[in-house]
Amino acid sequence: METNWVITGDGSRTLFNPMIGEHYHSKHGAFNESKHVFLESGLVHFLNINSSRQVSVLEVGFGTGLNFLLSADYCTQNNINLNYVGIEAFPLATDLVSKTGYQNYLSTELWECFLSVYPNAFDQHAQLNANCRLFIDKSKLSDFISNDQFDIIYFDAFAAIHQPEMWTTEALECVCRYLKPGGVFVTYAITGNLKRSMKALGFSIEKAPGAPGKREMLRAIKL
Ligand SMILES: C[S@@+](CC[C@H](N)C(=O)[O-])C[C@H]1O[C@@H](n2cnc3c(N)ncnc32)[C@H](O)[C@@H]1O
Repeated sequence: METNWVITGDGSRTLFNPMIGEHYHSKHGAFNESKHVFLESGLVHFLNINSSRQVSVLEVGFGTGLNFLLSADYCTQNNINLNYVGIEAFPLATDLVSKTGYQNYLSTELWECFLSVYPNAFDQHAQLNANCRLFIDKSKLSDFISNDQFDIIYFDAFAAIHQPEMWTTEALECVCRYLKPGGVFVTYAITGNLKRSMKALGFSIEKAPGAPGKREMLRAIKL
């Protein structure tokens, strides 16, 4: 996919995909969005409820890896074991991923490990450090199959207005079937259709405060 760099509202970078007509992150702040929606409202929320020392995350739309990097940095600092699987149909080249500037938001060691394992993480579960393991499944959401069950889903598809097929009940079910009971699903968006789909898939839904530029976001718990 062709992409261009854009500086967002908090000074962090994102990519614009001209074919889809959409940015990879919020224009109001890529870092702030990732930290608020996925790290704090997803991972930290789950760990606070479950007081667990290990956690598994399934992400839809791995992209630049920002959500993974913030999660891995948090887990490394707090000595929590993280097993992370990203689904990505159109992987970015290592050269592009190395130019995000996201090293500003995590430890140098983690950033260097990430860049060195990124190309291999498409073939095998790659160990970044004592705590964090990454696998990126180069498949379309609709083709995704797993033997694992996860604690958290980060749903970070392009917006429904640009990629409506990613937000149907059938598409959501492709990952929600791999979430454990009590598991947490988070995404930056909240719409009537999304709430209806998540209820139909057996979730209780919660409106959480949104990232900068959005009033609310969706958090759903699998019943
Ligand atoms: C909003 S961006 C994700 C941003 C990413 N989480 C990050 O931090 O950079 C959406 C991602 O979904 C990927 N994608 C698009 N269609 C897909 C599909 N059918 N299955 C899986 N991934 C898809 C895109 O290539 C893109 O990386």
